[in-house]
Amino acid sequence: MNSESGSAGTGLSVPMEDLYEVAVAQLDCSRATFSGFRVGAALLSGGQIFPGCNVENSSYGLTLCAERSAVMHWASAGSPGVPEAIAVVARNSHGEVVTAMPCGACRQVLSDLPDSRKLQVYTGEGDGITMTLLEELLPHAFGPADLDTGGGTD
Ligand code: THU
Repeated sequence: MNSESGSAGTGLSVPMEDLYEVAVAQLDCSRATFSGFRVGAALLSGGQIFPGCNVENSSYGLTLCAERSAVMHWASAGSPGVPEAIAVVARNSHGEVVTAMPCGACRQVLSDLPDSRKLQVYTGEGDGITMTLLEELLPHAFGPADLDTGGGTD
């Protein structure tokens, strides 16, 4: 893995490989009807792994990315734990392995998760796996604490 911590030093509560197993399986669930670009994600929180896949829509702008799909699964389960990591895998329209970094919208949604600055974002596969902290992907983020509710009401 191309990371300072190495796969043995991730500090995650489950092996990073378990996240990848779920993310890769999600590629078969991906509804990439229009782009053919399949994305699978797996969010680790509270010792559970929440799957996500991209769901495209004929009104293109309504497409949901895999990362946000995983966040919705986590929320639907009652938002257990503090998210530790998310793995994201992708296949282009030729079925080739490609690296997909979370888009801007997904970075913002991930950023609103509890203690999200230290969320580990795993992208790429095999020897090309890279871990990036969310605070690196979205520095100077707008967040719940900026609202006059004082950081959320849930
Ligand atoms: N996509 C994701 O699921 N996650 C990303 O971070 C980047 C893009 C999806 C959205 C769309 O279905 C397809 O990839 C092409 O943009």
